Amino acid sequence: MKTLLLTLCFCAISFYTIAQQNSIRPGEVWPDADGNHIQAHGGGIIKLGNLYYWYGEERRPGLDTNFRYVSCYSSKDLMNWKFNGDAMVLSKPDSTLANNRWVLERPKVFYNAKTKQYVMYMHIDGAIKGVSKSPSAYDFAGVGVAVSDKATGPFKLVKTFRPLGKESRDIGQFIDDDGSAYLIFECRPVKGFYIAQLSDDFLSVEKEVAFINLPLEGGAVVHYKGLYYAVGSKLTGWSPNPNKVATATSLAGPWTEFVNMAPPETNTYNSQSTMFIKVVGSKDTTVIYMGDRWKPSALHDSRYIWMPVEIGAGKLWLPEPKPWSINVKTGKWKKIE
Ligand code: DGJ
Repeated sequence: MKTLLLTLCFCAISFYTIAQQNSIRPGEVWPDADGNHIQAHGGGIIKLGNLYYWYGEERRPGLDTNFRYVSCYSSKDLMNWKFNGDAMVLSKPDSTLANNRWVLERPKVFYNAKTKQYVMYMHIDGAIKGVSKSPSAYDFAGVGVAVSDKATGPFKLVKTFRPLGKESRDIGQFIDDDGSAYLIFECRPVKGFYIAQLSDDFLSVEKEVAFINLPLEGGAVVHYKGLYYAVGSKLTGWSPNPNKVATATSLAGPWTEFVNMAPPETNTYNSQSTMFIKVVGSKDTTVIYMGDRWKPSALHDSRYIWMPVEIGAGKLWLPEPKPWSINVKTGKWKKIE
């Protein structure tokens, strides 16, 4: 009886330990409320009311290889995340894709307050029938758009296309303080990336706002104290490199020269930019760098490098990622020794 009670106590304590995260630990396994490593790679975050939603590439082993999966997690504090299931399970989205090696990467969701729709953009790529030389080529170079009435889905694909008629690979999302929404996309033929405004209903990419003539992917933008900061990573596949940052007083530019945002020898602490989360609290505003530390041979085990950045007056710097915690009400964060 005593042993049984002790076992039960131990189980309850372990469950509590898994369920409650009091910190964000960059680079470590990040358990969700069920104790599973969060599957939201190359993700995007929106805040609605007091809930954050995190969407991303779901890479859990054992998924049906005929589909691609986008996960949805929610959190009140950015540290504890509940898995809400797959927001979208997508079968081959375009008949011109040559085979089943097509990819869905970097899904991003926007909420449109006018239409009350959740609108998901995702990078769709793969070999094209009768055109591509390699069966695993990223030649499609387009986006998919899917919609849902609920944050958690299910999202239904509406269309695939090339934004502004251009080749588009890594995408990023930016929502300005006035609610205007932008898609950031890398465009290889012109060696640069675009920041493009979405239409009123968010279903189309309407207007080029800026073209930054530097081959950068993993594009992310944040607006902080009157300045826009844009970051991106060089085109080195899944391998990390020194990500760069530039600033502008207007999204349209002119943008300053891109400079390192971390000691270059660390390759952005072995991570690739994905987006920024701006936490505006009652006492402070914290800007969090959200990066992916990819493991191409086991994508499900890729890790997240989230860390508040030092930002202001045209400088953005990523300190060495170490465990930290945040109070989303006050906006204050602290390192955990
Ligand atoms: C780098 C991109 O940023 C990732 O999203 C992914 O597309 C890899 N390349 C694939 O090599």
